[in-house]
Amino acid sequence: MTQDQIISNTKSYVKESLEDAEGGHDWFHILRVYNNARHILSRETADAFVVELASLLHDIADSKFHKGDEEIGPRKAKAFLETQSVDYEVIEHVVNIIKNVSYKGGHKSSDFHSVELDIVQDADRLDALGAIGIARTFNFGGFKNNPLYDPEIPANPSQSKAEYKKSNSPTINHFYEKLLLLKDKMNTETARDIAAERHEFMENYLDQFYKEWDGER
Ligand code: ADP
Ligand code: NI
Repeated sequence: MTQDQIISNTKSYVKESLEDAEGGHDWFHILRVYNNARHILSRETADAFVVELASLLHDIADSKFHKGDEEIGPRKAKAFLETQSVDYEVIEHVVNIIKNVSYKGGHKSSDFHSVELDIVQDADRLDALGAIGIARTFNFGGFKNNPLYDPEIPANPSQSKAEYKKSNSPTINHFYEKLLLLKDKMNTETARDIAAERHEFMENYLDQFYKEWDGER
């Protein structure tokens, strides 16, 4: 099998597997991450085959929806790749990327590191930023039935740690907990540039949000 055929089979497999996935982690999230990764690959030196496979398979099973089983995604990816006559080293690398790519896991919980992991992680994080990131965030907040914003609860946790409560916190808080921190966590120069633009867009969005909230014209 050629690499092109394997990529094409992987797309079909992922698309089918994510048919019933929620909006934030559906096939179109995968496709955006894959496209982000290809864009980064066009400017950085890395093993493109590994990056493409890992970006396609990185959310094949989200442990949040499988009783916290962190291993199910890597296991499914491995089992699929073994049906595709992919080299053992490539499979191991892809599986290590999937295990390490999530925001929480990050690089800190493991010794594994590679430029391919850096790229997939950047590609995934970019999809949490900008207009798409805002849409995904409010989609998530709506799913949890969280309020959009509550002026009584400080939106920026650093302003008042004591009053700040995390569970069912307004969706706006997620910007300060995660989204506005991501631009400084990018691994590659290419992703850092894109993140800076998307960051500015989110800052402007928040300014406008608070203006409208206060009834300013
Ligand atoms: P990832 O895809 O990086 O694993 P998550 O599963 O944590 O990210 O989140 C999926 C999407 O939902 C992302 O866009 C993320 O920013 C958003 N999200 C995560 N947690 C919250 C939250 N508490 N409130 C609003 N949006 C959230
Ligand atoms: Ni993802």
